[in-house]
Amino acid sequence: MIIYGVSANEHDAALAVARDNTILFASPAERYSRLKNDRDLNVSLLRDAAAVGSPDLIVWYEKPFRKRLRKALAGQYKDALRADGKRYLAKFGLTAPVRFFQHHECHAAGGFYTSPFDEAAILVVDAIGEWETISIWNGRGKKLTKIYAEVYPHSLGLLYSAFTQRIGLKPNQEEYILMGMAAFGQPRYADQIYQDFIERFEPPHLTLRYNVHRGIRWWRPDLKNDFDIATSVQKVTEDILKGLARWIADTIPLKEFVFGGGVALNCVANSALARLGYFKDIWIAPDPGDAGSCIGAIAAHVRERLEVPGPYLGYEIRRAFDWEGAVSALLAGQVIGIANGRAEFGPRALGNRSILADPRVRDIKERVNTIKGREQFRPFAPVILAELAPDYFDMPVPTSPYMQFVAKIRDPARFPGISHHDGTARVQTLRFEDNPNLHAVLTRFYQRSGCPMLLNTSLNVKGEPLINDWTDAVRFEKLSGIKVY
Ligand SMILES: [Fe+2]
Repeated sequence: MIIYGVSANEHDAALAVARDNTILFASPAERYSRLKNDRDLNVSLLRDAAAVGSPDLIVWYEKPFRKRLRKALAGQYKDALRADGKRYLAKFGLTAPVRFFQHHECHAAGGFYTSPFDEAAILVVDAIGEWETISIWNGRGKKLTKIYAEVYPHSLGLLYSAFTQRIGLKPNQEEYILMGMAAFGQPRYADQIYQDFIERFEPPHLTLRYNVHRGIRWWRPDLKNDFDIATSVQKVTEDILKGLARWIADTIPLKEFVFGGGVALNCVANSALARLGYFKDIWIAPDPGDAGSCIGAIAAHVRERLEVPGPYLGYEIRRAFDWEGAVSALLAGQVIGIANGRAEFGPRALGNRSILADPRVRDIKERVNTIKGREQFRPFAPVILAELAPDYFDMPVPTSPYMQFVAKIRDPARFPGISHHDGTARVQTLRFEDNPNLHAVLTRFYQRSGCPMLLNTSLNVKGEPLINDWTDAVRFEKLSGIKVY
């Protein structure tokens, strides 16, 4: 049976295709439409999905009626009236039978059934689905049991997004920039945020004083230091997540922990949770956010472990890969691009649509930031041979193949290209089986330079999604002057 999993019509639309419990294809719509955070499916994406098979069943990542009801009650009338679910799919010629699953159930199932665990405690935290904002589950075999749920408007994710907007960034999109800024400030307003916004936090209960859905531009206009605000809201977020994790550890006697929902994209908070030591093993799906719920909806339907052949599930660029040329360029101190094989599903470039560079080169951070048109404070991530990661980083987890955790760098001065202001980096650990091409490049680079890591960032320019096909790559070459292998 061919199943299409769809997450669309809100932000970051995505489509996954499975045969029974095996994921064969998954991609965000934005890679095809070239519109960042595109909320709609598109013809090109559907054509690639159809090449895998036409659907016998479509599973949708939310319950549209419940969401419309919540939006209507919250005064978002225009949004509440938008075609959703079956009507939305029909616009794209998708007329197979449709099953709907709850938003948080898709996050929980997508995390649990892609994890290596037979049983696990599951925490889902996001801005909002239909109504739920925080949910806690016990996953065991085919059974997914909800233990607790907090509902709108009491939402940690909405609070984080409101602060993203408060410091002049785009809510629901640029939360990762706020997280990066948090390394630069002091948490001097954390108590103030607690006082002004948190009415009660007795885990797992979280009650906010206000509905922050429309933003908090009104909050303390006298506070001008955006970096201190960022650090403060990051601290409040981590403290609340730690409180939830403690409650889970006390309530569900399991050592395996799954974390999902958009807040699980916060790799600084993820590391804080890992360091608590409550859990033996933590699993976060390569895309724990709403786009990842296209796979989550399939998981909610099949209710058994999904066969997922790694994070490389998207459009395939089939070309010979000149890895020796790539290594030579890197050894010469050049910045290079790689566009080869199937595109990564998820927010991180993991070697198939990446910009790579030697992280030891003094001005490399500035050079790459200029190429990508990014703020100069934004850090880059390293990819390192997995077996050597503990020698260079104080890792909070044994492996981090999807760049979901940050770690202290043991000698940050040696690697200026990947050192964040606070001496940390968001680490990708790499084994041969994760990505043989990237492993070949990194191994040869290490043999010839003595450096077992490379700076690894996404192959795109500011404001654009990740490069998808070779035409995009050639355009990137022309725009940036960077050779793509
Ligand atoms: Fe969500």
